[in-house]
Amino acid sequence: MTDNIEGKVVVIVGASSGLGAETARHLAKAGAKVVLGARRVERLTALADEIGVSHDAVVQTDVVDAAQVKALVDRAVELHARIDVILNNAGLMPHSPLERLKIDDWNQMIDVNIKGVLHGIAAALPYMQAQKSGQIINVSSVAGHTVRPGGVVYSATKHAVRVISEGLRQEVKPHGIRVLTLSPGAVATELTDHITEADVAKGIRDFYEEYAIPADSFARCVLFAMSQPEEVDINEILFRPTSQQL
Ligand SMILES: NC(=O)c1ccc[n+]([C@@H]2O[C@H](COP(=O)([O-])OP(=O)(O)OC[C@H]3O[C@@H](n4cnc5c(N)ncnc54)[C@H](OP(=O)(O)O)[C@@H]3O)[C@@H](O)[C@H]2O)c1
Repeated sequence: MTDNIEGKVVVIVGASSGLGAETARHLAKAGAKVVLGARRVERLTALADEIGVSHDAVVQTDVVDAAQVKALVDRAVELHARIDVILNNAGLMPHSPLERLKIDDWNQMIDVNIKGVLHGIAAALPYMQAQKSGQIINVSSVAGHTVRPGGVVYSATKHAVRVISEGLRQEVKPHGIRVLTLSPGAVATELTDHITEADVAKGIRDFYEEYAIPADSFARCVLFAMSQPEEVDINEILFRPTSQQL
């Protein structure tokens, strides 16, 4: 599963914790050149030290700002003269029932989970088109395939990621660019820390404590898709903990 990984330049958006950080560990071990973006720069530099990456490859990035995402991708190209993969992974999941009118949470999910992915695409696409190669990996969710009470806006953002990915896949075929939508089930990360409603947070945490699997499950999916030969375009991966029904 580490074929075609060594030397690849991979921008990880949302690399400061959870799935992004674990993927950075796996990729660095396999010889990829990772460039790390997120808001918590101190977490990124600690990760860079842990995996032996220069601090030049750490860029404080808020995905809500397209210019910051462009600066992250530009850094990768400045350092390594190309970008092979962008992992559009930044996201948050402040669940609540719609009737609680948590409009700030809704807007934040739309800004980060949808617009953040679009900003990553906008930053990487011109380089990948010029190279006539590249792989764009957008992180959706099981919630991008279903909808449940209390998770409506999150689900809507993750459905949007799937739609964007599938449309992008069709549009970029002439340029030799590959597009993957990666949809995890419950994986143990910091995702459940940002739920603002106490009762909802408790329910989700209890669910994660019972079912969530470690983040290396996700990292292995990324490496699997990346390790395919250039002519193989893995477009969808949906995985759950074996014990997770919904
Ligand atoms: N864990 C799961 O069960 C699960 C299941 C399905 C899908 N997902 C998806 O997986 C992705 C990663 O989440 P995770 O589970 O690894 O949770 P996490 O540990 O909370 O990580 C979220 C990452 O997103 C970054 N992020 C959030 N807002 C950002 C912003 N405005 N600008 C830049 N980066 C931002 C965070 O960095 P900063 O806070 O430092 O900016 C962090 O690196 C998300 O898209 C999530 O929806 C997770």
